[in-house]
Amino acid sequence: TQNPHEVARVKNLNLIQIGKHEVETWYFSPYPIEYAYLPILYICEFCLSYFPGVKQLGRHRVKCTLQHPPGNEIYRKDDISFFEIDGRKQKVYCRNLCLLSKLFLDHKTLYYDVDPFLFYVMTMRDEDGAHFIGYFSKEKESSEQYNVACILTMPQYQRMGFGRLLIAFSYELSKVEKRLGSPEKPLSDLGLLSYRAFWAETIVSLLVDQQKTGIELSIDDIANRTAFQPTDVLHTLQNLNALKYYHGQYVIVLSDTVIKNNERAMKKKKREVDPKALNWKPIH
Ligand code: ACO
Ligand code: ZN
Repeated sequence: TQNPHEVARVKNLNLIQIGKHEVETWYFSPYPIEYAYLPILYICEFCLSYFPGVKQLGRHRVKCTLQHPPGNEIYRKDDISFFEIDGRKQKVYCRNLCLLSKLFLDHKTLYYDVDPFLFYVMTMRDEDGAHFIGYFSKEKESSEQYNVACILTMPQYQRMGFGRLLIAFSYELSKVEKRLGSPEKPLSDLGLLSYRAFWAETIVSLLVDQQKTGIELSIDDIANRTAFQPTDVLHTLQNLNALKYYHGQYVIVLSDTVIKNNERAMKKKKREVDPKALNWKPIH
């Protein structure tokens, strides 16, 4: 006989429907067993409740009048908004969010206890409402100075710059808190790729701008301007091969290739976080 717990870890659901999108799932998520083997799980895109059929979802939508996530809208710029949701105050929503995101996150434990976390949900607005694009969670108190616990862009919106926007937003919050932050380890492969790209782009742009002033920046200076932790700055510079040992000390030198690659990356039209559109104070 098989151990039922092992069986339960095998990827169960294959397909979810959320808003206008049918999305293939990636990993196991502990939805209640009676939902686990349905051909499609139907999810309300605003409250993230789940239903076995399209009829049940339809009945729910008559009652559920939400057109955006719960919580406070702390940022709005063009069609993008961020909502801050307290795990203690919105337990059901936050648990539903964790169940949904676990479908695309393999290496993280799921937090049934959502109380210690804040959730930052990013939406894109159209005439039907504020649609869920992605989110990150953040411990209210992190002993390790993590500013992100889990981060996700829904698959139907990936590779469009939204992960970068989520990451940039997490560092804007750290700047307001006057803290240096870093994502919780381990990172997934996609998480690492996205963070590395963001760190490199931010640091290289800062250094290129700074060159015009003639004043050199240390690793700590870069950390303080970006809210990145010094180890992340150091590793990024090492990955860029930008640390040179020169006359008995390390200096930061960007190669022409690094500068050209950065110029090319910056030419792509990207959504940016506008700090002026952030209306937020830390709770502690
Ligand atoms: N292949 C290669 N490079 C990639 C890929 C990929 N599949 N995805 C992202 N990148 C790199 C690229 O450099 C990309 O820039 P480019 O598109 O201009 O080349 C850059 O990262 C940023 O890409 P975005 O479009 O901004 O990121 P996206 O919206 O796709 O979100 C994320 C990235 C959140 C990691 C997404 O892939 C995801 O949700 N994955 C599943 C969940 C996950 O693994 N989360 C991270 C776990 S770690 C943690 O939670 C702390
Ligand atoms: Zn709903």
